Amino acid sequence: MPPALKALLAQLAGVAVAFALARAGVVSGLWPLVAVQAAAACISAALLRSARWWLPIHLAFLPAVVGAQRSAIDPRWFLGAFVTLALVYWSSFRSQVPLYLSNRHAVRAVSALLPAQPARLLDIGAGTGSLLRPLARSRPDCRFTGIEIAPAPWLAGRLLALGVPNLSFLRGDFFAHDWADFDLVYAFLSPVPMDKVWHKARREMRPDSLLVSNSFALPGCAPDEVVELDDRRRTRLYIYRIRSQRAPETAK
Ligand SMILES: C[S@@+](CC[C@H](N)C(=O)[O-])C[C@H]1O[C@@H](n2cnc3c(N)ncnc32)[C@H](O)[C@@H]1O
Repeated sequence: MPPALKALLAQLAGVAVAFALARAGVVSGLWPLVAVQAAAACISAALLRSARWWLPIHLAFLPAVVGAQRSAIDPRWFLGAFVTLALVYWSSFRSQVPLYLSNRHAVRAVSALLPAQPARLLDIGAGTGSLLRPLARSRPDCRFTGIEIAPAPWLAGRLLALGVPNLSFLRGDFFAHDWADFDLVYAFLSPVPMDKVWHKARREMRPDSLLVSNSFALPGCAPDEVVELDDRRRTRLYIYRIRSQRAPETAK
């Protein structure tokens, strides 16, 4: 079940419990009922096996809504915050791939993977282009393309790419684009889409091209190489060389 649907069900379960207890005369008064709803939503989320970080959100959700309702804050601030978050995170509630950025250690490691001759690199889910820009500047002989679905990071990336002639920043779904033209495809996503990413890579990428995944290994497929970065989280880059007809089970 998608996490957003679980969250909705947990909140509704909380409302149902609070309503039932209010009708039975067991609990009364606004804040006691809010507390019951929050606790019941939190327990329901745990029973639905939501990720642990959802639990404090369920506990805080209705108290925050009621608190905000009673405060004198102009509701347009809430609308503004909602619109800003929606433009940054866009379809993350469905894709389960939020925005976080590659660091300079990743840039250096990916740069070392580029061949000496001119090559093409695609960043699937390019964020604001924090990987692509330094690479494009250091390798003017190569072509760099980023595809980003969320409007705000895409716009930031597009504006920051002005004046970098070998960098293109496209808006859209990377699953809808062809990856066949690229020598290296870079992904920094989440565990959720990796299976689909691997199927598309095997279908479309040319033999001998590289798929590089920051932090998230491909399920059921041993990487050809793992590079550990010298950063605080000891980030790992999983490197897969595409072979024709390569099957996950037969990978080295
Ligand atoms: C973790 S960020 C990585 C940003 C960038 N690649 C970097 O390394 O700095 C992942 C990005 O992928 C984007 N994304 C997720 N699914 C996508 C899809 N199907 N098509 C295009 N972008 C997507 C998200 O909006 C998010 O900005």
